[in-house]
Amino acid sequence: MAQDQAFTVTPWEVKGKVDYRRLAEQFGVKLLTEEDVKMIEKLAGDSHHLLRRGFFYAHRGLENIIERIVNRKRWALYTGRGPSADLHLGHILPWMFTKWLCDRFNVELFFEMTDDEKFLVRDLPLEEANRYAYDNALTLIALGFRPDQLHLIIDTEDIRYLYKIAVKVAKCLTLSTVKHTFGFTDSTNVGAAFFPTLQIAVAFLPTELYGEECPVLIPAGIDQDPYFRLARDIADRLGYPKPCTLYCKFVPALTGEEKMSASRPETAIYILDDDNTVKRKIMNALTGGQPTKELQRKLGGNPDVCVVYKYFMAYVEDDSVVSKIYADCKSGNILCGECKKILYEYIVKLLHDIRDRREKARDVIESYRISSKFR
Ligand code: TRP
Repeated sequence: MAQDQAFTVTPWEVKGKVDYRRLAEQFGVKLLTEEDVKMIEKLAGDSHHLLRRGFFYAHRGLENIIERIVNRKRWALYTGRGPSADLHLGHILPWMFTKWLCDRFNVELFFEMTDDEKFLVRDLPLEEANRYAYDNALTLIALGFRPDQLHLIIDTEDIRYLYKIAVKVAKCLTLSTVKHTFGFTDSTNVGAAFFPTLQIAVAFLPTELYGEECPVLIPAGIDQDPYFRLARDIADRLGYPKPCTLYCKFVPALTGEEKMSASRPETAIYILDDDNTVKRKIMNALTGGQPTKELQRKLGGNPDVCVVYKYFMAYVEDDSVVSKIYADCKSGNILCGECKKILYEYIVKLLHDIRDRREKARDVIESYRISSKFR
């Protein structure tokens, strides 16, 4: 757990203003350096805006994956989702980057839907969490993954792939370690205490499935680090390669808080929000603008504290568009209303594309399931 006077970040809770450097320090993860980014870009033969703009910013063991790329050794990608609600823009951002990694490095992605987790730690019926697993998978597939690239694991249905690994993991972890790592107490249910073994198990699964050493690179929100710190601690003992991680920051809420919240709809743009709702949410977003039009023209705005600008950084790939917005804001050339309209056009286009492809995904979801590819 990372706790500070100013902020709290755990896998289940993000509160306060996060100081990302401090958080990396508290978790004991390394900051991504400019050389790291250059190296990835060189090997990929391409650049990704989330990497060059520092959205992915910390890691564990990245050098190991780089070594494997250079020496053409096997590795895989792993990430996941606790399906407890509809998806919003914040959720899909790391997945878009993960798709880029899949394509550029020609590697497979293992994706875990932890419907069991959400049942255990939230007030949500198991059947509902399972329904969200299927629904959320449609959006994931809509990001463009091919069936040979993406192996979908739904915990409650695909447990046979994980269980043998999970019991081995479980035997290495004492109750005291798990309590301290996740902040569990004596009144935490035993299912929640066991669950981390399943999130860790997927990190070792590719090695089992391929019958050869296959470390994973895990792109994830930095709040997920406690799981993978434990996984790295016990990997050696179990004869598995240590998983490596690449951590991203959170996408801020439209209202200025640290993270979009699935439980407060106005703070986030949902994939299934209709165009008018998207427009309303963007128009109401917190900006770095001046109180009046006259002052904005005279003094310019402050993009560095503006949520709308942060969305340009996150969702608009073209650097020339983003730097023009920045300059026009600073100089007072553009007013917040105009800027929001431009952002709206980009976001709505992204959402329409995803929604169209989501519908097509319904018929092919089975071909992405791990059970249709591995026995
Ligand atoms: N625990 C994650 C969540 O609540 C879901 C998850 C499972 C995950 N495996 C993962 C997230 C691997 C990132 C990487 O959303």
